[in-house]
Amino acid sequence: MRIQIGKFREGENRLVMKTILITGGAGFIGSHVVRRMVKNHPEYNILNLDLLTYAGNLENLRDVDQEPNYSFVRGDISDTEFVNHLFATHPIEGVIHLAAESHVDRSISDPASFIRTNIFGTFNLIHAAKEHWKGQVEGKRFYHISTDEVYGSLGTSGLFTETTAYDPKSPYSASKASSDHLVRAYGHTFHLPVVLSNCSNNYGPNQFPEKLIPLCIHNIRHNKPIPVYGKGENVRDWLYVGDHAAAIERIFHEGKSGETYNIGGNNEWTNIRLIRLLCDLMDSKLGRTPGSSQSLITFVKDRAGHDLRYAIDSSKIQTELGWKPSVDFEEGLARTVDWYLENTAWLENVASGAYEKYYEKQYLLR
Ligand code: NAD
Ligand code: DAU
Repeated sequence: MRIQIGKFREGENRLVMKTILITGGAGFIGSHVVRRMVKNHPEYNILNLDLLTYAGNLENLRDVDQEPNYSFVRGDISDTEFVNHLFATHPIEGVIHLAAESHVDRSISDPASFIRTNIFGTFNLIHAAKEHWKGQVEGKRFYHISTDEVYGSLGTSGLFTETTAYDPKSPYSASKASSDHLVRAYGHTFHLPVVLSNCSNNYGPNQFPEKLIPLCIHNIRHNKPIPVYGKGENVRDWLYVGDHAAAIERIFHEGKSGETYNIGGNNEWTNIRLIRLLCDLMDSKLGRTPGSSQSLITFVKDRAGHDLRYAIDSSKIQTELGWKPSVDFEEGLARTVDWYLENTAWLENVASGAYEKYYEKQYLLR
């Protein structure tokens, strides 16, 4: 069943333009979600709220930022007064909440910002929705985007399902787990129409080059060492970002209130196998001698508390909502490499300045 977000005005059979707040819309996944919602839903006012941290970049949305159903507001979800003011001054009927500190390594070196944004920021949003919706929840929806990392680490077999017990292992995943619990508790206690999803590793255009795949592309391009944590035997389940955005659109409209949906690519790779594949792809795209980029592979000290394996069972969203991944991994990876090679200015721009300093500290001092 498709949930109707918004309401009909009396005497009219036309749906009133509804304001949908998307948080973190200038980030990697958020920008793909904003673009999709702006293009597919002219009946919505899409309001993108983003603090523009190092990970937020309005360049990601240049192709839609002049659309009449799009607007941007810069602000911090951990600022209670700001969030309340936003809800008081905009008729927000739906929230798709992606804003977060998202990088595990940064959560190890600077956990405080993860607690502030991921926990307190989520609390501010869900509490403001409760206060401003005042029990009038028909047509409303609060959708919280989460991660498979809340389930902890798998051994060599098994998959995460929606009922797997939470067992977060890093400050990042603990902060996401905490925010998931808050959203579910508000749904239960205050009858707010909440829905959640937990997704596996995303890849694709516009991902900040601190994450494995864009970092490899950037380093291979510049003939810099590719840092492989530990033995490279950790396993991740990779999903093309466009497929995640499609799942988010589907869940926002058709997901059942109070439910959680796991989203994954059914596509497990050890890091080292994936890096070798990327090296070969880059050699062919850059016209280099086959095998040459593999010489850049450098084994470095492991990530503290490094989760061994994540893998998602996405049968619930597949059977209940009819979503499934559509982009084959080799095609998605080739599309991703092409995007980075065609957008070197984007890559160089985000990889300069403060990021350079972070990078040196993170890898060269290991
Ligand atoms: P990202 O780091 O690329 O983007 C995060 C965005 O949030 C940025 O635009 C940033 O400016 C904004 N932001 C950060 N702090 C903020 C604050 N206090 N107030 C307002 N805006 C703030 O992250 P991403 O990879 O696009 O992830 C988006 C969401 O999806 C996160 O909630 C993350 O936990 C979740 N997720 C990510 C993945 C993945 O593989 N990247 C997988 C599953 C779930
Ligand atoms: O599973 C979903 C999660 O995926 C999201 O919730 C996170 O926001 C997202 O960052 C991602 O977390 P990971 O820690 O899995 O992604 P990352 O790209 O940082 O690392 C992927 C794997 O590669 C992981 O096992 C660590 C390893 N790695 C990473 C980097 C950056 C390396 O070996 N070397 C590196 O330089």
